Parts: sequence; C-alpha cells; structure tokens
Amino acid sequence: MERTLILLKPDALQRNLIGQIIERFERKGLKIIGMKMIHVSDDKVKEHYSHHVEKPFFADLKNFIQSYPIVAIALEGLEAINTVRVITGTTLGREADAGTIRGDFSMSQSNNLVHASDSAENAQKEIERFFDQDELFEYKKLDFEAVYSSEELEK
Ligand code: CMP
Repeated sequence: MERTLILLKPDALQRNLIGQIIERFERKGLKIIGMKMIHVSDDKVKEHYSHHVEKPFFADLKNFIQSYPIVAIALEGLEAINTVRVITGTTLGREADAGTIRGDFSMSQSNNLVHASDSAENAQKEIERFFDQDELFEYKKLDFEAVYSSEELEK
C-alpha cells in the first residue's frame, strides 16, 4: 500500500467544500491515516513550494496558502498517489475533467482547492513535512477486505 498527502487549500475551507472533498476520497476506498487543520508557516511554504519560489506567481501563491487555515490529510491505499491525482484532476480547474474535484468545483489555476503529492519521493517528504510520526495512525480498515481482492490486499 502507498501513502500520499493532500492539502485542502483555503478556498476549499471558505467555499464549504471540505466535507464534499473528503467524501470523494473516502468513498473511493482510501484510508485516512492522518488529518489536521493548520496555518502553514513561512518555512513550510518555502519548503513545500520550493520548485515555485522563483516563479512570478510565488508571492500570490504564498499569500493564498497562508490566507486561511488548510486541512492536511494523509491517505493510504493501493497506488494511492496516482489514484488521488486522478480524483483531483489537472491543475487548471476550468479545464480539468468533469467528475474530478477541480473539474467539478474549480475555475482557477491557483485557487484549485487541493494539493496532491505527485510522486512516491514527494509523498514521503510531504507527509513528514506536515505530520509528526505520532499523528499518523496505523489501524485495520475493516472495509479493505471488500474494497480490494485478497491478492491486492497483500500489496
Ligand atoms: P499545487 O498542486 O498545490 O502545486 C503548485 C501550485 O501552484 C498549484 O497547485 C497552483 O495552486 C499554483 N500554481 C501553479 N501554476 C500557477 C500559475 N501560473 N499561477 C498561479 N498559481 C499557480
């Protein structure tokens, strides 16, 4: 099983979409292993968006992500990183596929509701960035036996 990180951005909070967004990941069959509401510090913004620090939109991105609290969630499932990105949709909300979170709820490139880890390496780094070890929960998810085949459950 794989772990991945999602951040529900300030626009998700202000648009009252937190519940609907979490529901999409839950009903897909992903397991929530960590969840918390936080204000993102200056250091964490620079770390998390280090690949965008030099971009012209960085100041706006920083202001946006720090404008209101965000909700950080760690999810677990088979090939969870890719699955979560499929559910989330492409960055530009107004062009994202209908049926995805961004495709259904976002019109924007910056106010696109959700961040999702894009690789196994980044998922691990990002989970460690937003969660201490004792904030991540290992427990038996009872519906996994219905969600997956026995062969998939071993993975
Ligand atoms: P996210 O998946 O969190 O990763 C980087 C974020 O930068 C992206 O979502 C957008 O919110 C933001 N972003 C990417 N490109 C642009 C852009 N051209 N203008 C403003 N924000 C952007």
